[in-house]
Amino acid sequence: MEGLMEKLKEAKAFIEGKTKGMRIEAGLVLGSGLGDLADEIKDPVIINYKDIPNFPVSTVQGHAGRLVIGELEGKNVMCMQGRFHYYEGYGMDQVVFPIQVMRLLGIEYLILTNAAGCVNVNWEPGTLMMITDHIKFAPECPMRGHNADELGVRFFDMTRAYDPELQKIVRKEAEKLGIPLKEGVYMFFSGPNYETPAEIRAARVLGADAAGMSTVPEAIAAAHCGLRTIGISCMTNMAAGILDQPLDHEEVLETSMRVKGQFTALVKGIVKAL
Ligand code: HPA
Repeated sequence: MEGLMEKLKEAKAFIEGKTKGMRIEAGLVLGSGLGDLADEIKDPVIINYKDIPNFPVSTVQGHAGRLVIGELEGKNVMCMQGRFHYYEGYGMDQVVFPIQVMRLLGIEYLILTNAAGCVNVNWEPGTLMMITDHIKFAPECPMRGHNADELGVRFFDMTRAYDPELQKIVRKEAEKLGIPLKEGVYMFFSGPNYETPAEIRAARVLGADAAGMSTVPEAIAAAHCGLRTIGISCMTNMAAGILDQPLDHEEVLETSMRVKGQFTALVKGIVKAL
């Protein structure tokens, strides 16, 4: 992105103008049907994406498209209610722009959430999965092009992209709350079509447990700029070809509605424990 640092700094300054010196510890990105958690933030500062300089604008149904900033479980958080997806037509650089803004705002932790197709045949819709690693075979990378040295180095490590120490916290919180939590590998597909049954079989052979159209670009950008990241997927449907039925967005929204309570409790527990 041309003049990236300037654009990021403009967005940062605008947000800081609204939050008035608040120190924000964690960033949350809420996936399809999981956005209600933002409503639990106390005395929130709400900023529509469309008002933030250089921010892309969210278009997909079920994504509100705003930042909700304030206190959750005793910590100041910045919640993205709605995210930017590659399939909407944004460049990868636009998709990760808010993550980089979070970094400039001094945020340390990032919690990425999503709705995903369940590739693992031993699990069922409604399962929550902590992402321990990912696979991206799509050719685009958000860090392609000029490297913003102020954010991170050119060739950056991905072995700790999903922070091992934070994973321990997530495990402990899930156990404490009695929430069954699986762990596994999320495979990125660029969408907007759901995958073919053959693609899902391939994903399984490659070691994936979940398939989805988000999160990975953000996790890559977060690894680049040194944000400590957690990923949680809600398996909203069995991925293509596992059941003898077509996939649709309604099922995705229905399942995320059904597990919203558990999901919210888990994320709140994590925020508290950070
Ligand atoms: N595939 C990709 N993305 C998804 C799916 C899926 O089956 N379900 C929810 N998001």
